[in-house]
Amino acid sequence: MIGDAAHIFPAEDGLFEETFSTDNTYRVHGLNITIHQDYSASLGVAASVWDSALHLCQFFENESLDLSGTRIIELGGGTGLVGIVAARLGAHVTITDLPSAVSQIERNIAANTPFSGWPSDGPSVSALAWGLDHSRFSSSWDFVLGADIVYLPETFPLLLDTLVHLCRDGAVVYLASTMRREHGAQDFYDHMLPQMFTVHPSSKPHVLCSVSESIFTSGAGRFEYVL
Ligand SMILES: C[S@@+](CC[C@H](N)C(=O)[O-])C[C@H]1O[C@@H](n2cnc3c(N)ncnc32)[C@H](O)[C@@H]1O
Repeated sequence: MIGDAAHIFPAEDGLFEETFSTDNTYRVHGLNITIHQDYSASLGVAASVWDSALHLCQFFENESLDLSGTRIIELGGGTGLVGIVAARLGAHVTITDLPSAVSQIERNIAANTPFSGWPSDGPSVSALAWGLDHSRFSSSWDFVLGADIVYLPETFPLLLDTLVHLCRDGAVVYLASTMRREHGAQDFYDHMLPQMFTVHPSSKPHVLCSVSESIFTSGAGRFEYVL
């Protein structure tokens, strides 16, 4: 499942000239999650399930994190896989992304609604552009999640502002990233994030590497806002 995504990672949005879609089923936490991926120019990188999303789900499993009853907000949810898994595990989840990705996430939530209903409430979806409209969201979360959202250097200060706002009441951030040299993720983790957050990169080999390791590898880590 963990492939060569770093090498095909697009430098720009709007790269899919032809529109096509796929449905893939991912086995995560003992759950089968079917994700519709709608490749079109309008969705850009939000169309795919990226390796980091799978790493983050694997990280929760490996760490035996109990998400049941927790309040979670996911940033840059893309297809919604991570948030859907968290909700299937009993968390109260809000999945966010740019407005263009909202309908894809809603579709995937609907497709993964258990016959018996969601263990807590089903995930909700909202548009949230980093740095611009986070003030519409509360700061009362247990966890803030993000998979492969550290890839556009011009958005790093905006993303940091959003993380700080969401964590004012003590939420813990879990991020997973593929460390692409050309996208500056290393600088975000090594220099920008530690200015505001205590960083606990994962050192366990089962999440492949720590976030401070570089170059075409994925990792997941835990970050706490320094109050
Ligand atoms: C590489 S994709 C990762 C998608 C998903 N988390 C995954 O790992 O499969 C990056 C996501 O960040 C979102 N994104 C990019 N810039 C954003 C911004 N300024 N505000 C909110 N979301 C943004 C994109 O729409 C996209 O869904």
